[in-house]
Amino acid sequence: MKLFVSVLVFGTAVVSLVSSAAGTDGEISFEYHRYEELRKALVSVWLQCPTISRIYTIGESFEGRELLVLEMSDNPGTHEPGEPEFKYIANMHGNEAVGRELLIYLAQYLCNQYQQGNETIIDLIHNTRIHLMPSMNPDGFEKAASQPGEIKDWFVGRSNAQGVDLNRNFPDLDRIIYVNEREGGANNHLLQNMKKAVDENTKLAPETKAVIHWIMDIPFVLSANLHGGDVVANYPYDETRTGSTHEYSASPDDVMFKSLARAYSIYNPVMSDPHRAPCRKNDDDSSFKDGITNGGAWYSVPGGMQDFNYLSSNCFEITLELSCDKFPSEEKLKNYWEQNRNSLVNYIEQVHRGVKGFVRDLQGNAISNATISVEGIDHDMTTAKDGDYWRLLAPGNYKVAASAPGYLTVIKKVAVPYSPATRVDFELESLMERKEEEREELMDWWKMMSETLNF
Ligand SMILES: *[C@@H]1O[C@H](CO)[C@@H](O)[C@H](O)[C@H]1NC(C)=O
Ligand SMILES: *[C@@H]1O[C@H](CO)[C@@H](O)[C@H](O)[C@H]1NC(C)=O
Ligand SMILES: [Zn+2]
Repeated sequence: MKLFVSVLVFGTAVVSLVSSAAGTDGEISFEYHRYEELRKALVSVWLQCPTISRIYTIGESFEGRELLVLEMSDNPGTHEPGEPEFKYIANMHGNEAVGRELLIYLAQYLCNQYQQGNETIIDLIHNTRIHLMPSMNPDGFEKAASQPGEIKDWFVGRSNAQGVDLNRNFPDLDRIIYVNEREGGANNHLLQNMKKAVDENTKLAPETKAVIHWIMDIPFVLSANLHGGDVVANYPYDETRTGSTHEYSASPDDVMFKSLARAYSIYNPVMSDPHRAPCRKNDDDSSFKDGITNGGAWYSVPGGMQDFNYLSSNCFEITLELSCDKFPSEEKLKNYWEQNRNSLVNYIEQVHRGVKGFVRDLQGNAISNATISVEGIDHDMTTAKDGDYWRLLAPGNYKVAASAPGYLTVIKKVAVPYSPATRVDFELESLMERKEEEREELMDWWKMMSETLNF
């Protein structure tokens, strides 16, 4: 992941920004941001809140635009042991523009509220590492935005510059998991040790590859992928088991995913309105309830990013459809922000649910890549580099096990409230230590016996 050095190169651009109104006086400007304006908007947040933000890029689009990320954290640039990581990705379909703008406004809002002393936002930023990627498809956006007039075509700019639909371009791990469910096999981290194969795969777009690396390099816990064209919070799985077009496709974490999707829809008055008319007369939204839907029940999507997150990493992702219009007129943007602001903040807070803690050995050393499994849920998490883990769970009583090759498994009973997350640490005894203990016990016994028997 290379650093965002170009900011320093464009010294003059930065200077002119400081004197411009947008961002610096804490106002949110509800307008569309073309590529250069998007950069400037992120830079102005960084200039306004340098101690809690950082700009970086995860790679480049096909046409060479940077895939920019604004990070907000009390320690920008580092993973703090025990602190969960969150991401929002928008504008993966370049013509779905609302999410892109909302993430820029969210960055400005978080920075403003932090500076104004808003306790909720200060707590959030102090306890969470938040990554915001306003555009995964900057080439598509430029194409969509270049169309003359207010009304934009329904498809122009959806794909990347190679014509690839990025939300059909991820490795189709659902097909592997559906076989493993029947025949046995891994239930998580299906791309383990396959980074090289990803890099060499010519079918993957550069935007997809960059995001795959990002997902696999950072221990993300929770994420959402912002789209447009409908209004609903969509949760895994997106691809159906039988291949039929509409079929409820529950993941092992169905209960939690519903709760997460609901945590978004509940604060969006349009999304959660039971009497909301379908976006278009012929739209089939019969699977929508309380503003949420299972992906497969709505329509099957193979190769999507949402299921890829869940099946390749520890990250839970849902897909948010935010507006009937994919590219609405500029004067509506403020209204979309008002509809989504509380949802966007509340959804980030969901990262602090379930069970979290550390897995260490008896000497207190971190055990990374240990497995955290929950009885009754066939989907395991793994610990990050510092032995830290997060296991999102709906309220209830659970048996949680920590295991690692060469160690004795430890199982604990845990009561999980709605929030905050219950802290559960594990100390694992290595099998070598156990053998050593057993040998010593045997020696003691032998000594005692020989003394007793006097030989
Ligand atoms: C602080 O932020 C929260 C979350 O966005 C918001 O609901 C609340 O209204 C803010 N408080 C003030 C005083 O603005
Ligand atoms: C993590 O553990 C799994 C199973 O225990 C193993 O297959 C995998 O290679 C490990 N990954 C790394 C990066 O060590
Ligand atoms: Zn979309």
